[in-house]
Amino acid sequence: MNAQVCMDRKWWKEAVVYQVYPRSFFDSNGDGIGDLKGITEKLDYIKSLGVDVVWLNPVYASPNDDNGYDISNYFEIMQEFGTMSDWEDLLAEMHRRGLRMIMDLVVNHTSDEHQWFVSSRASRESKYRDYYIWRDAEGGKRPNDWGSHFSGPAWTWDSQTEQYYLHLFTGKQPDLNWENEKVREDVFTMMRWWLDKGIDGFRMDTINMISKVPGFPSVSSVDDGKLHYAGRYFTNGPHIHDYLREMNEKVLSRYDIMSVGECPLVAPELAVEYTSPEAKQLNMLFQFEHMGVDHGIDNKWEGLELDLVKFKSIISKWQTGLHGRGWNSNYLMNHDQPRSVSRFGDDKEFRVESAKMLLTFLLTLEGTPYIYQGEEIGMINSGFTDISEYRDVEIINHNQEIKESGGDLEKALAAYARMGRDNSRTPMQWTAGKNAGFSTGRPWINLARSWKEINVEADLATPDSIIKYFKELVGVRKRNLCLVYGEYVHLLPDDSRLFIYRRLFEDESILVILNFSGEEVELYPGKGFDPDEPGRMKLGICNYPAPGTGSVKMIRPFEARIYWNQDK
Ligand code: NOJ
Repeated sequence: MNAQVCMDRKWWKEAVVYQVYPRSFFDSNGDGIGDLKGITEKLDYIKSLGVDVVWLNPVYASPNDDNGYDISNYFEIMQEFGTMSDWEDLLAEMHRRGLRMIMDLVVNHTSDEHQWFVSSRASRESKYRDYYIWRDAEGGKRPNDWGSHFSGPAWTWDSQTEQYYLHLFTGKQPDLNWENEKVREDVFTMMRWWLDKGIDGFRMDTINMISKVPGFPSVSSVDDGKLHYAGRYFTNGPHIHDYLREMNEKVLSRYDIMSVGECPLVAPELAVEYTSPEAKQLNMLFQFEHMGVDHGIDNKWEGLELDLVKFKSIISKWQTGLHGRGWNSNYLMNHDQPRSVSRFGDDKEFRVESAKMLLTFLLTLEGTPYIYQGEEIGMINSGFTDISEYRDVEIINHNQEIKESGGDLEKALAAYARMGRDNSRTPMQWTAGKNAGFSTGRPWINLARSWKEINVEADLATPDSIIKYFKELVGVRKRNLCLVYGEYVHLLPDDSRLFIYRRLFEDESILVILNFSGEEVELYPGKGFDPDEPGRMKLGICNYPAPGTGSVKMIRPFEARIYWNQDK
């Protein structure tokens, strides 16, 4: 094995991560809300998938304005999810099965019900006043023109102390002031507290937003009274690397753990500055470039046709840009994105084929793969048709805004059905029985319409089960370091239906052929690619019955194949 790679081998690079959204995974007590005991009950299922790490979305005390991303106490468990002792059992049961747990770390903001904020807003003299970002009104107006992520301004007026506070998300999620050393120390103490309890790492929520550009400049040079997206002023700010280095030095580096930062507006060069070993900051990050290919700039509700050539070039740029320098994390969905099959595949005629093809993609790239609950059975978008079915604050606020401005509500509803976050937050579909086997009580959010046909039980009962295919893929990845560390070479980059790439590692060469379209496509020659090559290689994995000798060059709708240059 290549000495350099050998030196850089890490468990978190070779791991497959499975994301659990606790509210919607499994409800053990019939209140309609998933809980910690429910996850513990399903650990054998998770383990059976072959994954190594479970990322838990926030389980801390929270008034749930944004489903746990508004934390009121970092040291307590959300009552709806259970108790600290349930959490301890869950961790122990995970470790007993050889699974690791990473927790969400939400420290760009807290809940407005967190004691720090309660005290901070009570008086300008509070010792917690500077834990948050307070500014005077500018000539009777807000300090700048920034809009918040979930509609409305990023500043809320507090009439008691007569200042505005900053919140990049909802008004119930005030931003912490990371310039204050005491904030940093308190956050680091909290992180150590969880790590000492034995967790295996953190997924850090919007972590590259913790340093803001001083002076909080307005986006627009003219005061047009409009709100603007101010990403460039609050992501990757002037002290971001200092704060992360400090966090790494004082906390992360003291434990054998993994860290993955959620980082919008990052390009590969900057990702290297965050994730290279020399940077001493994060192990890896979630970038968003490929999530932007099918909607308008800064406007996810404005749908665009998926441009596969662009998608491929983004993925390829990240694969080559971080190779040997930083580390990628690969995902096609999570609790903030619609279902991957509905978005990148075909959720009707070729649902099973496209679900498997997308999993093949995720597990054959360099970087750590992240699978979201239900992706392993090809769950699809919710199919909600009425605004009353939605629970997400982002959707509810947006809808209110459209209503108030007399906008097109039908169009908005169609946009939610396509891009809304609730698409991935509907309950996990376990069986075709009552409430899809998720809960004996009424679920907190409706089930996706497809639950009777698409569920774990039904999938496992079919000979060509997606779960079985996924397990096979995980096994193949584990046995082939080439798939984890190998160099990536993109082939036929201009093709708008096929995604073909090679992975190279010492004398091993793997060829991955994916059809991202519902049409049959014939292989053809291109730079560095000979269409007869697959015929000379060994077919390792295919999501269809193996092609006959005459049809090796014909790639069927949403077909996925992995070829080796040697026996495996
Ligand atoms: C990103 C999280 O993934 C999302 O669910 C949340 O709403 C925002 N950050 C705010 O915490």
